[in-house]
Amino acid sequence: MIIDKEFRISEVDERIYGSFIEHLGRAVYGGVFEPDHPDADENGFRKDVIKLVQELQVPIIRYPGGNMVSAYDWEDGVGPRDKRPKRLELAWRTVETNQMGTNEFVDWSKQVNADVMMAVNLGTRGIDDARNYLEYCNHSGGTYYSDLRKKHGYENPHNIKTWCLGNEMDGPWQVGHKTADEYGRLALETGKAMKLVDPSIELVSCGSSHTKMPTFPEWEATTLDHTYEVADYVSLHQYYGNPENDTANYLAKSMDMDHFIKTVISTCDYIKAKKRSKKTMNLSFDEWNVWYHSHQQDQEIDPWSVAPPQLEDVYNFEDALLVGSMLMSFLRHADRVKMACMAQLVNVIAPIMTENGGKAWKQTIFYPYMHVSVFGRGVSLQPVISSPKYDSKEFTDIPYIDSAVVYNEEKEELNVFLVNRHLTDNIDLSIDVRSFVEYQIVEHIVLEHDDMKATNTVVEEKVKPHTKGSSILKDGMLEGRLSKASWNVIRLK
Ligand code: AHR
Repeated sequence: MIIDKEFRISEVDERIYGSFIEHLGRAVYGGVFEPDHPDADENGFRKDVIKLVQELQVPIIRYPGGNMVSAYDWEDGVGPRDKRPKRLELAWRTVETNQMGTNEFVDWSKQVNADVMMAVNLGTRGIDDARNYLEYCNHSGGTYYSDLRKKHGYENPHNIKTWCLGNEMDGPWQVGHKTADEYGRLALETGKAMKLVDPSIELVSCGSSHTKMPTFPEWEATTLDHTYEVADYVSLHQYYGNPENDTANYLAKSMDMDHFIKTVISTCDYIKAKKRSKKTMNLSFDEWNVWYHSHQQDQEIDPWSVAPPQLEDVYNFEDALLVGSMLMSFLRHADRVKMACMAQLVNVIAPIMTENGGKAWKQTIFYPYMHVSVFGRGVSLQPVISSPKYDSKEFTDIPYIDSAVVYNEEKEELNVFLVNRHLTDNIDLSIDVRSFVEYQIVEHIVLEHDDMKATNTVVEEKVKPHTKGSSILKDGMLEGRLSKASWNVIRLK
């Protein structure tokens, strides 16, 4: 492998380490907000959860959905708590108590040092509600909705910069699902009105829900034809799983993600060319993760309960490896992927889990997410790598070694992220880092486990990183050994 300071892809936008909290299952109630919990603060926020979110250094958090937003009335979640209505939440078929809403979420996000990426309802609602909501959140005062916010105790505007124009509007499961033309028109007119209220905001136009959608990528082409000039980003969503228990194939699924990103970039650039536009559309990969472990148990949950344990995937070691590879895919496309949200953050397909009334704990996927978020800030460099390859059921020419590199010029740090996808063999790696004169190895972090299906629990953290990785650096050549099936961060300074 050759790493050179001059092989620059782009500055990494730290917002690619974003995450997502939806009013779904126990993400909000029992996750973020649990007033009766012994560790809750005066706002009812769990301090143990805040601490874990802070460890991840999450810069931006999408809210309030997800599928839930497509039938959400934001007015239900503001004002005096005792006046807030309980509603049937149609996406997940639960009862939403609205005890947490926009203002409380903004308060919570400040505690975890994150910005909010807000979504508006373009399923059952439209232009009026979106402009009113934005006025409520961002207008300084002297108008109906901005004064309503003040009346609710929030004198200063929230100044939320990033707004999603609906969620997964291509999906037939979405309340208010639309055709590409219907969505494109509505998103354009909603976006226009929103930018009249506050021209400083950035808007995300809905892309496809996943790569296998029959309308992908025509959905992007048609909707962007409408929204190209008003939107700043197009969204991508993707979840993977290993239900067929084929680990070699599963670990290569990040190649599908690479392909997805490239296809969306091409589609955006086609519309740019068609419109003779000077503007380049960037990508917001605002839902991504592994999601399949909980599918069966979710079938057994009775409808219309409050905060049931939905989508509570318990992640294993191999999931952590794929999550590492997915994060590296964003780094390799840092020139166009400017935001991304691990979906989700607490309890619902999440790196952080809680027990109601009990402890909070870290899933296996917590670690690669934390490593890349903490050490992946700077300039993404293009690694030039020659790796042995393999074929699997769905993919060919899969490099055993998956890699991404981030150079932090300010801190003078070089961080190399690597997955060894080989399930039985360690691989010796030699990296030419001669352009980093006088750098030394700080540490070689490794996440490994003999059992690909090993999981963490509230009582035992079986999968956690160590720093006993074997790498040495001599005369600008780094020689390292990557254990079979492992996630590695080699840090130089
Ligand atoms: O993150 C879970 C769900 O996945 C979201 O609500 C939806 O947008 C996607 O289908």
